[in-house]
Amino acid sequence: MNNELKVGIVGAPRGAGFMAGFNAVTETKVVALCDTNREALERSAERYGIERRYTDYEQMLDSDVDIIVIATPMPLHAPMAMAALNAGKHVLSEVTAATDLKQCWQLAQAVKSSGRKYMMAENYCYMKPNVLVKALARRGLFGTLYFGEGEYIHDVKDLNRQTPWRRVWQTGRNGCTYPTHSLGPVLQWFNAARGENEEVIKVERVSCFGSGRHYQDWRGVNFDHDDLTLMLCQLNTGGLVKIRLDMLSDRPHNLAYYTLQGTKGCYEAQRGLGDQPKIWLADFHKPNEWHALSELEEEFMPAMWRNPPEEAVRAGHGGGDYFEVRDFVDSILHDTQPPIDVFTALDFTVPGLVSEESINRGGVPLPVPDFRTMQRFPDDLPDELKNSRIVEVNLPLVFCQGRIDGLEKGGQGSRRAEGVRQEPHSPTGQASLDGTVVTHL
Ligand SMILES: NC(=O)c1ccc[n+]([C@@H]2O[C@H](COP(=O)([O-])OP(=O)(O)OC[C@H]3O[C@@H](n4cnc5c(N)ncnc54)[C@H](O)[C@@H]3O)[C@@H](O)[C@H]2O)c1
Repeated sequence: MNNELKVGIVGAPRGAGFMAGFNAVTETKVVALCDTNREALERSAERYGIERRYTDYEQMLDSDVDIIVIATPMPLHAPMAMAALNAGKHVLSEVTAATDLKQCWQLAQAVKSSGRKYMMAENYCYMKPNVLVKALARRGLFGTLYFGEGEYIHDVKDLNRQTPWRRVWQTGRNGCTYPTHSLGPVLQWFNAARGENEEVIKVERVSCFGSGRHYQDWRGVNFDHDDLTLMLCQLNTGGLVKIRLDMLSDRPHNLAYYTLQGTKGCYEAQRGLGDQPKIWLADFHKPNEWHALSELEEEFMPAMWRNPPEEAVRAGHGGGDYFEVRDFVDSILHDTQPPIDVFTALDFTVPGLVSEESINRGGVPLPVPDFRTMQRFPDDLPDELKNSRIVEVNLPLVFCQGRIDGLEKGGQGSRRAEGVRQEPHSPTGQASLDGTVVTHL
């Protein structure tokens, strides 16, 4: 089968990051690109030789593409995924899966009723060290797992100005608003180690605290998000996971720090400056003696990472942008469950939504709803969440005509986000965020 699955991508800037992956998978061909920003659309389409170009998503859905890749701002992921599923397309969606509980419920229903494949593109799960740790966990080499950590430390203050939707949906809300890169790999490790007939391991309760607010955006306005947030996740096994999200501190970044602790072993990712991922496994190593994770590569590395195609190594996010595409396409070709299906995507996403309610209520532990078992919405939500803000979040969607070049770091108030425009389909555009034009979905 060559180039038989036709792919359409929506959201040109990040969407381009999927090109290497789809080009390397011989069964697919990217035939269409969609973006409401004509300049961004033409730039990416020219660069990758994509002939069919759309500024209207509905029109791309009406075409004969088999797969839709969603790389638009976060609040559009679930609505666009549902529209694509309803149009009979398979969906690969950027993170996070959804931005409120109602979207989560509707997305899960849409996937179930469509019979199509949905996968969340959580690329950090596919990074080389994370894949190896998962293989070791699957063999039981960590024993019983009971603690893990994930950290995403990435100063996105400038990116907030370039992509103002982030200023509303990531740093205009508090809590762990971008959790999947950290929580995803850790939850995958816990689940790799569980027995075949055991219940899926997921977060049962979260408690979230923040460090206060010490930074301002480009207008000199305080972020609505704490500099860093800590989300404590109690698992249904009794285990504990700590997630640190820092999108605002002035400091070098570290996007992929993790730890894992079990009764027979532990793991720590690299911190930087020559450090390397390190591991101790009781079955292999002397007590109190770190070893390089790479020592276990030859024996335990899964086939996918042994001889990856050249394109895989070149793809972004440590190869993750290729392997997630490969796995997703395989699930379509073999009619199997995608590895990060809708419920797994919600396992990675929903704790972050609940963390917002927790941090706004002083860190109180709150239950995380399970959309696998939910029959009615919102009736089956835990009582503590039924009237919470996270059930349905109606924030404006802020657009920007392409990225703004030449930002002065820390520049305040002097320059508005240029070219921000009103979304053409919206009837309810209004001015906000320093006079930029915004719309409600
Ligand atoms: N997994 C990762 O490693 C990773 C990395 C970067 C970004 N992302 C995710 O990718 C998504 C996009 O991020 P970005 O930085 O590229 O944002 P961006 O704002 O630069 O790009 C979004 C694009 O979507 C377009 N768009 C908005 N509404 C549209 C509509 N209705 N129809 C068609 N096009 C529309 C915009 O014009 C814009 O070009 C976000 O969800 C982000 O979280 C993930």
